[in-house]
Amino acid sequence: MTTTPEQLEPATIAVHAGREGLRDLGVHALPIDLSTTSPMPSIAAGGDAYDLLASGAALPDGMSPIYRRAWNSTVARFEEAVAALETPRDELDSVEAIAFASGMAAMTTVLLSRVAAGLPHIVAVRPLYGGTDALLASGLLGTSVTWADAHDVADAIRPETGLVVIESPANPTLDLYDIRDVVRQAGTVPVLVDSTFATPVLQQPLALGATYALHSATKYIGGHGDAMGGVVATSAERATQLRPIRTITGAVMDPWTAYLLHRGIATLPVRMQAQQANAGEVARWLAEQPELTRVFYPGLPGADPTGLVGRQMAGPGAMVSFELPGGLAAAEAFCAALQLITHAVSLGGIDTLIQHPAALTHRPVDAAARPGEGILRLSIGLEAPVDIIADLQRGLYAVAVR
Ligand SMILES: Cc1ncc(COP(=O)(O)O)c(C=O)c1O
Repeated sequence: MTTTPEQLEPATIAVHAGREGLRDLGVHALPIDLSTTSPMPSIAAGGDAYDLLASGAALPDGMSPIYRRAWNSTVARFEEAVAALETPRDELDSVEAIAFASGMAAMTTVLLSRVAAGLPHIVAVRPLYGGTDALLASGLLGTSVTWADAHDVADAIRPETGLVVIESPANPTLDLYDIRDVVRQAGTVPVLVDSTFATPVLQQPLALGATYALHSATKYIGGHGDAMGGVVATSAERATQLRPIRTITGAVMDPWTAYLLHRGIATLPVRMQAQQANAGEVARWLAEQPELTRVFYPGLPGADPTGLVGRQMAGPGAMVSFELPGGLAAAEAFCAALQLITHAVSLGGIDTLIQHPAALTHRPVDAAARPGEGILRLSIGLEAPVDIIADLQRGLYAVAVR
C-alpha cells in the first residue's frame, strides 16, 4: 500500500494490506517462503538476529530470519494484514498481529504470557468456545480461573489477576457483551476479546479498549474451511511478549496456511456482508416458526436491548442458534434430515454448517455451564437463503413427524 491504513477504507485494506513490495519483486500474487532456514551474512550478524528475535521484536528488513520457527516472511505478511484491519481508524497507535498454528495456540500463548508475568489468575465470562472453557477450567497452563458474570468482572479481579477473557458474540448463544464496560471494570488488567464471530470487519476490540483481539482464523478469516490458524492483534509492546513464547513452544503458523488465510482476507468484507444478510433472513424465518422455543441472533427485535449492534459491532454477524423443545433426540432428527446444510463443527466458511454445541463443540464444558440439549448452532454461508430455509424446513418436518 502507498498510503497508511488509517487513510483507507476497510474493504481496501482487506485487498491490499500485507502486499507491500510485490511490484519490486515482479510478482502479483503473494509469495510463499517455504524456507525452514535462511542464509546468514556472517556468524556475528546471525547472532544479532537471534538476539533480536529472542527479544520478541519484529524482524527488520534486511536481517536474516534465521529459522522458520522464529520468523517467516509469508506469515509476517498475513500478520500485517490482520494488524491493519484491527487498527482503530481514529488512532495512530501501532497495532501488531501475531499468527499461530490455531486459535487454541493463540489463546495458550496469551495465557502463558500472563503466567510468565507472575499474574496467573484469569477472570472469564461464559459462554466461551468449549476448548477455551476447558483450557481455563483445567488449569493446565498454571492459570486459575474465576467465572464471572459480565457485570461482576470488577468484583472478581484480584492482585494476581493477569487477564479478563470474554467472547463477543459468544459461542454458541450469540450473547453480546459491552466490551467498553468490561474494560472499565478490569481497570489495569488487560482484556482479551475472542472476536472470531465478529471478525475485524464488524468489530475492532482494540478500539473499544481491549488489549488483545483474538481470532480463530480457521473460521471467517480463512473462510473456506481449508486452513487452520489463530491470530492475536495487540500493541507492539504486548506483541513483544508473545513472539518469544510462540518461538519456544513452536506454536507457529506454516507459510501455506498464511498464504491461504491472507488470500481469504481479501474477500472477508464481502463474504461477511453477504453471509450476514443471509443470516438475517434465516433468523427472521426461524423466529416465525412456532415449533422453536428460542432463536438466538443479535439482529432480531429485542435481542440486543442495550444497542450494541451499531455501537460496538457494525452488524449482527452470520451465526444463528435456535432451540428445539425436544432436546438431543429432536436435534438428532433435525440434523439427519438436512440435505444441503453440512452437519459439522467449525464455522465461518462459505457453506452453511450446523452442529449441536452441547454434544460437540462444548462437550468438555462443565455440565452446569453447558448449552441446552435442544440448541443447534448454524454458521450461515453464501447459499441463497431460500435454499437454506427449505433445508431447515426439512429439519423441522422431521422433528414434527418423529
Ligand atoms: C470462538 C472460538 N474461539 C476459538 C476457537 C479455537 O480455534 P481453533 O479451532 O482454530 O484452535 C474456536 C473454534 O471453534 C472458536 O469457535
